[in-house]
Amino acid sequence: MKDFKRTLITTALPYANGPVHIGHLAGVYVPADIYARYLRLRGQDVLMIGGSDEHGVPITIKARKEGVTPQDIVDRYHNIIKDSFAEFGISFDVYGRTTSDTHRRVASDFFRRLYDKGEFVEKTSMQLYDEEAGQFLADRYVTGTCPHCGAEGAYGDQCEACGTSLNATDLVNPKSAITGSVPVMRETKHYYLPLDKWQGALEKWILEGHKEWKTNVYGQCKSWLDMGLQPRAVSRDLDWGIPVPVEGAEGKVLYVWFDAPIGYISNTIDLVGDDYTKWWKDPETRMLHFIGKDNIVFHCIVFPSMLMADGSYNLPDNVPANEFLNLEGDKISTSRNWAVWLHEYLRDFEGKQDVLRYVLTANAPETKDNDFTWADFQQRNNSELVAILGNFVNRAVVLTHKYFDGTVPAANPTEKETELQAEINDLKAKVTEALDNFHFREALKLAMDMARAGNRYLQETEPWKLAKTDMERTGTILNTALQICANLAIVFEPFLPFMSDKLLKMLGGDKISWDMLGCMDLVPAGAKIGEPVLLFEKIEDDAIQAQVQKLLDTKKANELQAWKPAPVKADCTYEDFEKVDIRVGKVLECSKVKKSKKLLQFLIDDGMEKRTILSGIALSYEDPSVLVGKEVCFIANFPPRKMMGIESQGMILSAVNPDGTLTVISPSAPVAPGASVG
Ligand code: MF3
Ligand code: ZN
Repeated sequence: MKDFKRTLITTALPYANGPVHIGHLAGVYVPADIYARYLRLRGQDVLMIGGSDEHGVPITIKARKEGVTPQDIVDRYHNIIKDSFAEFGISFDVYGRTTSDTHRRVASDFFRRLYDKGEFVEKTSMQLYDEEAGQFLADRYVTGTCPHCGAEGAYGDQCEACGTSLNATDLVNPKSAITGSVPVMRETKHYYLPLDKWQGALEKWILEGHKEWKTNVYGQCKSWLDMGLQPRAVSRDLDWGIPVPVEGAEGKVLYVWFDAPIGYISNTIDLVGDDYTKWWKDPETRMLHFIGKDNIVFHCIVFPSMLMADGSYNLPDNVPANEFLNLEGDKISTSRNWAVWLHEYLRDFEGKQDVLRYVLTANAPETKDNDFTWADFQQRNNSELVAILGNFVNRAVVLTHKYFDGTVPAANPTEKETELQAEINDLKAKVTEALDNFHFREALKLAMDMARAGNRYLQETEPWKLAKTDMERTGTILNTALQICANLAIVFEPFLPFMSDKLLKMLGGDKISWDMLGCMDLVPAGAKIGEPVLLFEKIEDDAIQAQVQKLLDTKKANELQAWKPAPVKADCTYEDFEKVDIRVGKVLECSKVKKSKKLLQFLIDDGMEKRTILSGIALSYEDPSVLVGKEVCFIANFPPRKMMGIESQGMILSAVNPDGTLTVISPSAPVAPGASVG
C-alpha cells in the first residue's frame, strides 16, 4: 500500500425511497466496512462517510404513489435505513442526509462557485413535457423503448436492460410515468457541465494514471471516454431538490446526481467542521469511493469533473465498484419485492448479523454478478461458521476449562507449534495483501484457513487423549489453541465484528490491532478465561424453508399482478360455434388416473347414460372427490380418444388461471343433466 496520512472512505448514498436489502450490503456497505475496520486495526486515520440520498425522482414517485409528501418518504426511510446499517455493524463515522441544512448550503455554494467561474454552459432546448401533470419529464419520470437495445421500459436517464445512459429525449415512444400520457416537446433552459472540457484531463488521470483499478471500473471509464464526453445537464425543472442558486433559474433545482455526491462533503463537514479540508483537499489524504456498478460513471467521470472544475479538491484514488448480487437466480428488485430486506432479516434471524455478513462476503459480486441462495446461506453457516470456526474456538475453550479450570496453561513450544505459527504468519501476509487490493472474498477465505489450521492442529495433537498421560504437553497445546483463538478474533474483526467481540470477551482481551496478528502470546499464561459461549448455531431446514416459501409467494403475487388475459382469437362464425355440442353433466365419480400425474377420470351423468371423460386437471385438484356431485360443462361430440388405456368420451371445460392452474366451470344454479349450453 502506498503511504498516505489518512483515508477518506465514501459509500454510495442510498435513495431514501425504500428499505435497504442484501444487494446494498453485499455491493457497497459490507466491503467498505471491512476495509474501514481493517485500516483502523492498522492504526490508520480513517473516516467512513455515509448518508441518505433524499432528492431525485425515485423519492417523488414514491411520494405520489402513496399520496404523501417527499419529505414524509425520506423521513421514514432515512431512519429505517440508518437503523438497519447500525444493526449490521456498518461503522460509519457519520450518516447524514441530503436534506440537511448543511448540505443545502454546501451544494448550493458549490454550484454557485462553478457558476461564477463560468464552468457551466446555459442552453435552451426542447424537452419532454407532460401537459396533464403540468411538468417537464426527465430521468425516471419518463419511460420508453431503449434506442440502443430496443428494451421496453427504459428510463429517461438509463436503460437497465443494456446499461446505457440515456437522455429522456432519446427514448422511442416516450410515456409519462406520472400520468401515462404521451409527452409533448416544450422549450426550457438548463445549466450544463461541459464534460468534454475535462475529457483530456480524465483520460490522463484514469486511462494512464489508474491502470490498477478493477477491470470492470477501468473498462467502463474507457468506453465512456472513447465515445467522447458530452455536456451534461445539471439542473431540472422540478419542485423537489435544492434550488439552483442563480438569478433567472426560478423553479429549477439541482440534478440529483449533482447534489448527491456533494453530500459526501457536506456529511464530512457535519462531522468535523472546517477540518473537512484536511480530508478533501490535502494531497496526503487518499479518497476511496465504494459503490455499485451502476454508479461508476457518476463517480469516475461526472463528480471528478465537478471537482476539477472547482479545482481545490482531491480526486479519488480508487473506486472499487462491485457488480450486482442476484437473489435465487433473479435480479433484485424493489418494485417486484424481490429482495431480502435487512429489517426483515433482522427480525427473522435475530443476532445473526455476522452470518449474513459472512455469506455476502464469501459470495461477493467482486468480478461478476453473483447469486444469493438460501441453500448456500444455510450451508455456509452450518458447515463453515459452525463446523470450522465455531467448533475450533469451542474445543479450545471447553478443553481449557475441563483440564485447567479455565486458567491459561503455560506453553513449551515444540517444532509443531513453531510450524503452526509460521503458517499463521504466512496467512497473515496473504490476508493483508488481499485486503490491500480490495479482494475481500479471498481475504475471508484466507481468514477461514486460519481456523482450519487451528482445527487441524487439534486433530493432529489430540490433547483430549494426551491429557491422560502428559499434562504439560496438553497445556502447551491448549495454550497454543487459545493463541490461535485470539488471532481469529483479530483477523475476523473486519468481517465478523460481533463474533470477534464475543470471542475477545471470552478470552479476556480488549484492545486489538493488526500488528498483534501472528503473535502467540496474546492470551497470557495464568490468566482466567471466560465460560464458553457458542459463537454460531446451526440453522435448521424449517427456517430456510420459510424464507424460500416467502420468495415463492412473492413470485406468485408478481405473476398475478403481471397477468393479462390472452388476446382474442381470430373470428369464429355462429356456424362454427354451432358444431360444438356443449352440455351440462353431473359428476358421479372422480378420481386420479393411476400412473398419470395430470389426468383425472370422471364418470358423468349426461342425462341419457353415463360417460367417462378424462381431463388433464389433476395438478389443480389435490383432492378430486371435491368435484363429485358438481355440475360441469363438457363437449359431448368430440370423437372418443384413448389415454393411458382408458377411452375418454368428451372434454370437461375449465378456466385457465394466471398461475396456470385450472378451475372447472359449473353453472351458477342447478341445471338438468344433459342440458345444452349455447
Ligand atoms: N442514490 C444513488 C443510488 O442509489 C447513489 C448516490 S451516490 C452519491 O444509485 F454519490 F451520489 F451520493
Ligand atoms: Zn437498452
